[in-house]
Amino acid sequence: MTNSNNFSPPSYPTTRMRRNRLNDWNRRLVAEHTLGTDDLIWPVFVHDREVPREPIPSLPGVSRLSIEALLEDVVKAEELGIPLIAIFPVIEDSLKSPNGDEALNPDNLICRAVRAVKATSSGIGIMTDVALDPFTTHGHDGLLENGHIENDPTLEVLAQQALNQARAGCDIIAPSDMMDGRVGKIRETLDSENFENTRILAYAAKYASSLYGPFRDAVGSAPNLGSGDKKTYQMNPANTDEALREVALDINEGADMVMIKPGLFYLDVVHRIKTTFKMPTFVYQVSGEYAMIKAASDKGWLDGKSIMHEAMLSFKRAGADAILTYAALEIAAKIRAQEK
Ligand code: PBG
Repeated sequence: MTNSNNFSPPSYPTTRMRRNRLNDWNRRLVAEHTLGTDDLIWPVFVHDREVPREPIPSLPGVSRLSIEALLEDVVKAEELGIPLIAIFPVIEDSLKSPNGDEALNPDNLICRAVRAVKATSSGIGIMTDVALDPFTTHGHDGLLENGHIENDPTLEVLAQQALNQARAGCDIIAPSDMMDGRVGKIRETLDSENFENTRILAYAAKYASSLYGPFRDAVGSAPNLGSGDKKTYQMNPANTDEALREVALDINEGADMVMIKPGLFYLDVVHRIKTTFKMPTFVYQVSGEYAMIKAASDKGWLDGKSIMHEAMLSFKRAGADAILTYAALEIAAKIRAQEK
């Protein structure tokens, strides 16, 4: 075995790889990757219902929160040192429409949640999704006409949705819709309204995955989407070169950070994107990935805590700078407990 300098390490028995694995301190000393609380982004669901915390059956351990309950949890996240939360709204059916107009209402749930968090905490970043699916009666991310998602008319609405969220105080706008040209359109619109410091995190490589099921249950878009799929705008899981082109376009249009989604099945994509572009690169451990680990753990088939940690390390190894995970709070608590 030689490396690029033509250096050949001595072989066994001079070299014994197990020496550096002998003790816990030695293993920690030579660890190439570590997981810290700064690496975590916590996605949360807010709703407008009476009940403060409504458990989501397909996402064990995750609840839809009232704004008051969200504020309590944000305090915990801040104390644990989590840098960023991602807020997703659960919109009541009565407010959904074919064009998702509620997304542009300055007093909609997401804007009220952002304003409430901003009013009570200063030390945590807030990210919000730009896409119409929580707001549309058909559950798609864009405008639907004659069975087709119309790209360019959708851009206008997404840019206004982004502006609405920026005005509410959101720090990072995260377009997750996969329309062509949306990052550029959003950047231009934000800049024209003096939101030049509002950051854009592009869901640059987002695949048409079957791992989003529990998320769609959580926001209530699953029944609306029905048997429909998002294959005309989200990427084909068969492709990686295409992911590089998506990312290049989003960077050129002004993305400050890029994301790959889902995570675990797409580590090759994370690695290629990080090594090619050297941009702040995030990965989303999506609802289905989280649910699989939790379900197996609840059945006693796997050790959920250690698997979760192992999954996080795989993202770090692949090159992710931060990870969106529903387990952020429990992972951060575990990291803090180990520090004591
Ligand atoms: C909305 C959106 C989705 C997710 C994040 N933003 C669902 C989808 O595209 O259908 C999925 C996240 C998850 O599964 O955890 N555009």
